Amino acid sequence: MAYAASFETLRWDAPQAAGSFARLRDGRLVLIDQTLLPGELSHLVCTTPEEDWDAIKRLAVRGAPAIGIAAAYGVCLGIQPLFAEGKTPAREELLAKVGQTAAYLATSRPTAVNLFWALDRMKARAAAEKNASAADIAAALMEEAQRIHDEDRTLCRRIGRFGAELIRDGDTLLTHCNAGALATADYGTALGVFYAAQEEGKKIRVYADETRPLLQGARLTAWELAARGIDVTLICDSMAAMLMRRKKIDAVFVGADRIAANGDVANKIGTYSVAVSARAHGIPFYVAAPFSTFDLTLSDGGQIPIEERDPEEIRRGFGIQTAPDGVKIYNPAFDVTPAGLISGIVTEKGVITPVTAGRIAQFAQKEQGAAG
Ligand code: MRU
Repeated sequence: MAYAASFETLRWDAPQAAGSFARLRDGRLVLIDQTLLPGELSHLVCTTPEEDWDAIKRLAVRGAPAIGIAAAYGVCLGIQPLFAEGKTPAREELLAKVGQTAAYLATSRPTAVNLFWALDRMKARAAAEKNASAADIAAALMEEAQRIHDEDRTLCRRIGRFGAELIRDGDTLLTHCNAGALATADYGTALGVFYAAQEEGKKIRVYADETRPLLQGARLTAWELAARGIDVTLICDSMAAMLMRRKKIDAVFVGADRIAANGDVANKIGTYSVAVSARAHGIPFYVAAPFSTFDLTLSDGGQIPIEERDPEEIRRGFGIQTAPDGVKIYNPAFDVTPAGLISGIVTEKGVITPVTAGRIAQFAQKEQGAAG
């Protein structure tokens, strides 16, 4: 199929509604079904938290920031039935439903902290609406979900501009998995850095790891980079070290699912191998992520929960049997790259380097940087 020039990763759809309460009551969540890309660009409509949970679980919507946004809208879906047919719930009933829906959505995937961060924001917003009616709390929740969504657009552009300063005209870059528009509201973190460099007129080339076993690099990154006119070459994951040895890569940029207080980074399985190879070849390795991806309650990456997925994704990926029935399969979806291998973490507040607990704590307290 032709590359889409532009797309919306996810949106809250309530065309006839006027005002936040009506938008909540009459809306639904529309997502690109990323499991079908690149063959088909089609949308999935979620009208219940269960449908949203399922979309997150099976990676129809994926990438840490996009999961957070989808979960925030999922809370809105959860309280909708309380207002069906003109009903008005009691405030306590509404708050209980918010808590219940958030707890349920939190069970969809364990690693990306943006999921829990967004759900916590929704619960906090509901709790902050003291003495408000149920309808007013619902309106506030709609606004909060929309705010989480809108903020992501701004944050990603800031990350992009800070990260682009690390890229020279003519550089060749490597990325792993998909930390692009499809993983966020619309721009991306690691790929946002490439888009910002491109917007500044720098000519760049990108190698995209295909990213076994679910091929986010091949199916999604190659698709969206090509759609935006970036010179992209797809490689198998096992080829990256050889390219580095041949001096074909100037820098690596990846996203993150959760960053511990000391700077250890959980990201898509295979990221750690890329970081080790980059260090062995003296190539800078950068992580790009918003502050919502930091989990400062964890002192190091050893405490980050790592999702294990269905062995069938490896045995029969995309419906083709590539391993014998009965053979044992281990399928962790993420790994942890130690802070010591990371040259810098590009955030909306600037680039954290060196990556140490002290620097991260300083940045966490800092106001957002000047990049627009
Ligand atoms: O399993 P996925 O596809 O959700 O994994 C996504 C990643 O690992 C991304 O690199 C990460 O979430 C950052 S997205 C800006």
